[in-house]
Amino acid sequence: MTHTHTPQSLHRAHPAAQPSLIELRDFCYAYDEVIALRHVDLDIDAGDSVVLMGDNGSGKSTLLKALVGLIFPQQGTYRFDGKEVNEQTMRDSAFAKRLHQRIGFIFQDSDAQLFCPTVEDEIAFGPRQMQLPEQEVQRRVDDTCALLDIEKLRARAPYNLSGGEKKRVAIACVLSMNPDVLCLDEPLAGLDAKTRSWLLMFLRQLKGAGKTLVIATHDQSLADELADFFVYVGDFHGYEDRPHVHINA
Ligand SMILES: Nc1ncnc2c1ncn2[C@@H]1O[C@H](COP(=O)(O)OP(=O)(O)O)[C@@H](O)[C@H]1O
Ligand SMILES: [Mg+2]
Repeated sequence: MTHTHTPQSLHRAHPAAQPSLIELRDFCYAYDEVIALRHVDLDIDAGDSVVLMGDNGSGKSTLLKALVGLIFPQQGTYRFDGKEVNEQTMRDSAFAKRLHQRIGFIFQDSDAQLFCPTVEDEIAFGPRQMQLPEQEVQRRVDDTCALLDIEKLRARAPYNLSGGEKKRVAIACVLSMNPDVLCLDEPLAGLDAKTRSWLLMFLRQLKGAGKTLVIATHDQSLADELADFFVYVGDFHGYEDRPHVHINA
């Protein structure tokens, strides 16, 4: 983190000379009649580790989907690294691919993310979409399998794996793209104690390696260990003495 965040510095009335990596202004989104994001202003800088906290249904998952370009603003703007992400700009497949390479999403439900016949194919999928040479694809599969300690799962079918194994594979898939930003939706939900402590350690390493992390969680230890600042979503009131911004109230 390059500076101490305060609600004021995050809700910059006048954008600083150096724009944030992630910049939402007056971002609004509704699913048919259900309003999910209301006039959200948010800045996240490269290298920040941000924890989203809020009650069920407060809009955390919708915000993460917006950041990774799965949904688009119906009002307001989202800029990633200075470039506007919206329905129109995402029609440019080169632009969309580049965004998906730079900002990865680890779904709460790993089954929603894994669809290939083998773990190896699953991890190779993103790099192949990027049209990397096959040798480089294989190198990335090897590296991420080693990093996530899943070499013995390479030939397995993802849908047969345990919840913890699926989570490792889902993370490997995202890391094989070498993204700058990782968005994780309730990453510890449903994991056993051993996998949880492994994942906490792993997220600390990613933070130490300079990755930008945006994590929705209800988990206190994750929040305490990783958050440079909090984003309180909806009516949620957390620890008012910690660096935070409040959105979507
Ligand atoms: N696919 C969807 N269709 C309709 N409403 C949805 C959909 N996804 C989420 N919502 C609604 O949007 C609001 C925010 O949901 P969500 O972002 O999933 O919250 P959280 O992740 O904080 O639990 C909720 O009211 C929820 O019911
Ligand atoms: Mg959610």
